[in-house]
Amino acid sequence: MKKTITDFDIKDKKVIIRCDLNVPIENGVILDDNRINESLSTIKYALDNNAKVILLSHLGRIKTEEDKLINDLKPVADRLSELLNQKVMFVNETRGTVLEKTINNMKNGDIILVQNTRYEDFPDNKESSNDEELGKYWASLGDIFINDAFGTAHRSHASNVGIAKHLPSGVGFLMEKELDMLGNLLDSPKKPYVAIMGGAKMKDKIKVMDKLIEKADYILLGGGIANTFLVAKGIDVKSSVYDEESVEYALMLMSKYKDKIVLPLDGYGSTEYKDGLEVYYSDINDIKDGVMVLDLGPKTLELFKKYLINCKTVFWNGPIGVNYFKNFEYGTKTLCEILKNTNAKVVVGGGDSAAAVINLGYKDSFTHISTGGGASLEFIEGKELPGIKSIDNK
Ligand code: 3PG
Repeated sequence: MKKTITDFDIKDKKVIIRCDLNVPIENGVILDDNRINESLSTIKYALDNNAKVILLSHLGRIKTEEDKLINDLKPVADRLSELLNQKVMFVNETRGTVLEKTINNMKNGDIILVQNTRYEDFPDNKESSNDEELGKYWASLGDIFINDAFGTAHRSHASNVGIAKHLPSGVGFLMEKELDMLGNLLDSPKKPYVAIMGGAKMKDKIKVMDKLIEKADYILLGGGIANTFLVAKGIDVKSSVYDEESVEYALMLMSKYKDKIVLPLDGYGSTEYKDGLEVYYSDINDIKDGVMVLDLGPKTLELFKKYLINCKTVFWNGPIGVNYFKNFEYGTKTLCEILKNTNAKVVVGGGDSAAAVINLGYKDSFTHISTGGGASLEFIEGKELPGIKSIDNK
């Protein structure tokens, strides 16, 4: 068991909280603040308990000077100030006298956000290579380190693993919840347990699939992954996306787990990867020449419903249709409705499926929507994540 923020007396202490505030921002406007909202409980706890709160986060990837301009964390500090109803002071540097003086002048209950930790990646890649001196420097700014950045837990960077090496450390409430929810899917899921997988690239998800197929009673497939299995079965998916490299693997899985794998029966498609064009409906055996399937059809959703209606646990990773095109949101919306009306514990993991569920308005309908993309997948694969491993045990 990892130590948590509640295991420390944080009053009067400088508490460094590593959050994952890596949110989509366009022209200074935050497009989705889910990760900021999910980070609030730990931050509020630290403020309410009279700590001096120093927030660290990365934003995007920094390979050039221009990358810095578009990955400035200032809009996140402003959003945090609104949500906390308290001024979050933004320090526009990742090291130096301004940062050090600001921290020295902090009073209990004050909060600052430090500029994007990945500014240290240009030109020397110091943050992402877990530079020893950088981790030690950041640790020197605080008394206690709390890692609440589940989305970054699969990275071994200076701002998570590096700092943890030099300070007493624990996890925050968000990290704790992610470990509990996702850990339960691996350890003791209530049965029947159904996994839903989608997304374009099967190759990247083979290890996750191996794990899920072993643990779950059924695995329902959509998107490019489903198409790869259909091709393995000899079905002509016409212009639809599938992963040629994984066809043989799909064949092997089907021979081993024939009764667990559930494939689409029908779908909606288009002649181009675009919204607003003519929509073609067909059975999966009868896709028109030149059409790519972009969504699941009603027969498939009826079939999925039979597996989902009485199940106790669901894990959903990867989009089953191009839900951000109005013409092709039917499958995702219908699936969300089915899941909303089950009594199952429903956990959604992975950046795109989580975004789909949130954008379609189902954020509060499920048990847990993971804030981790890559991190949630590596966790489900059963890998030990460095950002978690580096935290002190109880
Ligand atoms: C994410 O968005 O998955 C995390 O914030 C990690 O970002 P990264 O893939 O750039 O390390």
